[in-house]
Amino acid sequence: MQQGRTTISKFLIEQLRGSEDQSDLAALLIDVTAAVKAIASMTAKGALGGFLGSLGTENVQGETQKKLDVLSNDAMIQACEWGGLVAGMASEEMDDPYTLPKEFERGPYLLVFDPLDGSSNIDVNVSVGTIFSVLRHGKIGDPTVADYLRPGVEQVAAGYAIYGPSTMMVLTVGKGTHGFTLDREIGNFILTHPDLQIPADTVEYAINSSNERFWEPPVQRYVAECKAGKTGDRGRDFNTRWIASMVADVHRILMRGGIFMYPKDAKDPSKPGRLRLMYEANPIAFIIEQAGGAASTGRGRILTVQPTSLHQRVPVMLGSRNEIERLERYHREYDSGEDKPFASPLFKDRSLYNDDVRA
Ligand code: F6P
Repeated sequence: MQQGRTTISKFLIEQLRGSEDQSDLAALLIDVTAAVKAIASMTAKGALGGFLGSLGTENVQGETQKKLDVLSNDAMIQACEWGGLVAGMASEEMDDPYTLPKEFERGPYLLVFDPLDGSSNIDVNVSVGTIFSVLRHGKIGDPTVADYLRPGVEQVAAGYAIYGPSTMMVLTVGKGTHGFTLDREIGNFILTHPDLQIPADTVEYAINSSNERFWEPPVQRYVAECKAGKTGDRGRDFNTRWIASMVADVHRILMRGGIFMYPKDAKDPSKPGRLRLMYEANPIAFIIEQAGGAASTGRGRILTVQPTSLHQRVPVMLGSRNEIERLERYHREYDSGEDKPFASPLFKDRSLYNDDVRA
């Protein structure tokens, strides 16, 4: 029955054989899968598990913590702290990095994660996920915050789990992006989606349009052209999708193409975007690039952004390569003052594109 099926452990051991990271990284990722299975079991119980609802506390972002946010955070810590594989961990749910208890050996990696991304969706039974990123520590002793602040290009592995109709894990160790589905009867992840590839072109885009008036002109231009469809510059109709759960939106893009945008907006000028660089944007950008897609802030590759703080936010645009390149071009044209929207009859009379916005 199990013949011919590749388990996630077998896959990882084979992918990493002979590499610098070899068995340690495979072992850490297998520990992560243990946490993911525990989180999958809690999320699947829904109201019957008694885990739904808020705790009445806030995380460092000022967001209300759900019971499941905290339980999922605990599940990741418990699965990964004891094995001598990590030197420390940081997550969305903890203000400061987690220092391992004295009795546990310190290992070669730093694990950074969002234990339950999109958790505002959990009470309405919409897919949520866990996102994780692995960096090398390469130092003796407990890591400081500065040790975590490394650009995404330095990740040695990244992945996410999606808790949907089926539970899946999608990950990369820098050799393509691969998807695994949880077989609940045997309790193991099985390789079901090897070598995922995002088509370069798409007619599907995901963005929270309620923020439109706060976006920068290049994003307004892009979306306006998509909305104009066949009658506009693009000459074809587009579709929008917005689940408000990044993992679920990204998963759709990996399965059939599309782009996802959470751009910089002027709603809260203190925030240069909504999504967090270290445990949302970077791991997802690594996965997307390894699947042939592109991941940008609009003004550069996400993976080369130098983090300055653990919980920093960043504008995010990712998915089908040609559309992301177009968005980057619109940003360049806007920044250099040569953008077409000001010349196009479509935008001439629209206040969104007047010089006040640009100033
Ligand atoms: O933490 C971020 C997140 O929940 C993402 O998963 C999702 O894409 C986004 O926020 C939803 O934002 P909004 O509530 O503005 O639609």
